[in-house]
Amino acid sequence: MKLNIILMGPPGAGKGTLAKQLKSEFNLAHISTGDMFRDAIKAGTELGKLAQSYIDEGHLVPDEVTIGLVKERLSNKDCENGFLLDGFPRTIPQAEALQELSKEIQRPIEVVINLSCDNNELVRRISGRRVCKVCGAPYHIDSAKPKIEGKCDLCGGELIQRKDDNEESLKVRLGDYNLKTKPLLDYYSNLGLLKSFNSLQGKESLFDEVKLFLKS
Ligand code: AP5
Repeated sequence: MKLNIILMGPPGAGKGTLAKQLKSEFNLAHISTGDMFRDAIKAGTELGKLAQSYIDEGHLVPDEVTIGLVKERLSNKDCENGFLLDGFPRTIPQAEALQELSKEIQRPIEVVINLSCDNNELVRRISGRRVCKVCGAPYHIDSAKPKIEGKCDLCGGELIQRKDDNEESLKVRLGDYNLKTKPLLDYYSNLGLLKSFNSLQGKESLFDEVKLFLKS
């Protein structure tokens, strides 16, 4: 069973959705750099103030900040049973730093799961996405509606639209993905770690396919 996992894919491919499903199935630590930055913004910390200026416009937060954050998080005890990195690494320097770090803590990356999805569907998903203000669970105004409008099924929190889920920021995010993150697919393919899945299939079917693969 593969337990130290990287989830990759463009914005809206479904990394966060799949991570939540895998976390509860396999009891893994879910490390989402996007969520960590959003928590810091909510808490008004120095990190949050720095990250907000990049995130709202769709730009990547500088490598040295992001690498430091993940380094600290990966040394937590809850990562001992395995971890899911969601949204990290996103650049070659981040991937190289992670290789070093995973050696240091003796928890090598065992698989990189890449979610592929076409551009029109990414735009549809991101523009219709709503997230729970409290627990971060994702919904969609057409294809993943909550049971009660505007309320999270899991915790009853208010559903909101992320500030960076607008057309302008999305253009920047997709541009950055193509330029800086996509080269990581070759990087991990050369290491023999890459496994791609089609995220156009529904959430449950994708989850079943990934689960089966991880158990094999
Ligand atoms: P982050 O939060 O990581 O955003 P992202 O990568 O743009 O990814 P998203 O959260 O938008 O999408 P997702 O793939 O998780 O899709 P989701 O499951 O929600 O990062 C935000 C920002 O933080 C970055 O732009 C950057 O500024 C900064 N940052 C973060 N990490 C960084 C790093 N390493 N370096 C530098 N900066 C960093 O699903 C989307 C929608 O689709 C939902 O509505 C969902 O219901 C639906 N859906 C999901 N899966 C399926 C499916 N299989 N079928 C149908 N619908 C589905």
